[in-house]
Amino acid sequence: MDQENPTAGTRQFPQWKNVLVEVEDRIAWVSLNRPDKRNCMSPALNDEMVEILDALEIDDSVGVIVLTGVGDSFSAGMDLKEFFRAQDHLPYAQQMRARRSAWQWQWRMLMNYSKPTIAMVNGWCFGGAFTPLVACDLAIADEDAQFGLSEINWGIIPGGNVTRAVVQTMCHRDAMYYVMTGETFDGRKAAEMKLVNEAVPKDRLRARTTELAKVLLGKNPTVLRAAKQAVRHVTGMEWELSDDYLMAKSAQARLLDPERGREQGMKQFLDEKTFKPGLAGYSREG
Ligand code: COA
Repeated sequence: MDQENPTAGTRQFPQWKNVLVEVEDRIAWVSLNRPDKRNCMSPALNDEMVEILDALEIDDSVGVIVLTGVGDSFSAGMDLKEFFRAQDHLPYAQQMRARRSAWQWQWRMLMNYSKPTIAMVNGWCFGGAFTPLVACDLAIADEDAQFGLSEINWGIIPGGNVTRAVVQTMCHRDAMYYVMTGETFDGRKAAEMKLVNEAVPKDRLRARTTELAKVLLGKNPTVLRAAKQAVRHVTGMEWELSDDYLMAKSAQARLLDPERGREQGMKQFLDEKTFKPGLAGYSREG
């Protein structure tokens, strides 16, 4: 992203210092902005991220969120100095406050976010950064981005729900291997393990992410929200329960959908024969 010459029409938000936020064509590019510290996540950055996700969720000009990093790093994980060492001797309540703002955005808000989210991994991605990576709905990486569960290398286990995030996406053997060895792997390997959806060359990363964001922007937002919530919530449900939940969720989406997408889709396919649902989306102009 060219921060010196932002594209005309790009909206910026100077109130946040540790995170750069730019909105262009309904895509909010949320870039962790401590490149000199490889975008590691300090308590101040975490507090800003809570505010930012809160603000963008109710901003009607935003349809998709892309989480990335300024410079050559997605995020080098938690800030060892400011999040760990500086907190160690603070009273328990203060430590908990810092932890709360970390988990609040890194998994809780992202996992329950009402708009689609994409992690665009543009470089280093270590430790604590796996949590927001996995909590985003989709992820695209630079082929040469370097990932690592480095906690074992500096004497801790992957906490901050990193281990939970890892077992959500990686198979048992891969999770064990990388948690126990702390070895790095690149974006290609991350895609092969399905930790990210795909990996592309660096010079295609932003274009491919934009392309994917535009696909999501073209979908009915009410139905998209219900669909992604359903994917998250059916995990762990019994079949009887998930069937009932999905029926209720479908009814909820129908009730809340101002576009009446289901009726539009059926009318355009069955009566007007203007599209094929197997190949494309219904016309939202209709
Ligand atoms: N916490 C605190 N500071 C960090 C950091 C982190 N997680 N990651 C990088 N930094 C700081 C470095 O201390 C250095 O600060 P300084 O300029 O004041 O000395 C600065 O960022 C640049 O880091 P540097 O190590 O010189 O950059 P590099 O490009 O040579 O290496 C990494 C990049 C990501 C490989 C390396 O910084 C690293 O291993 N970071 C820690 C990764 C990690 O284990 N994260 C897990 C935390 S849960």
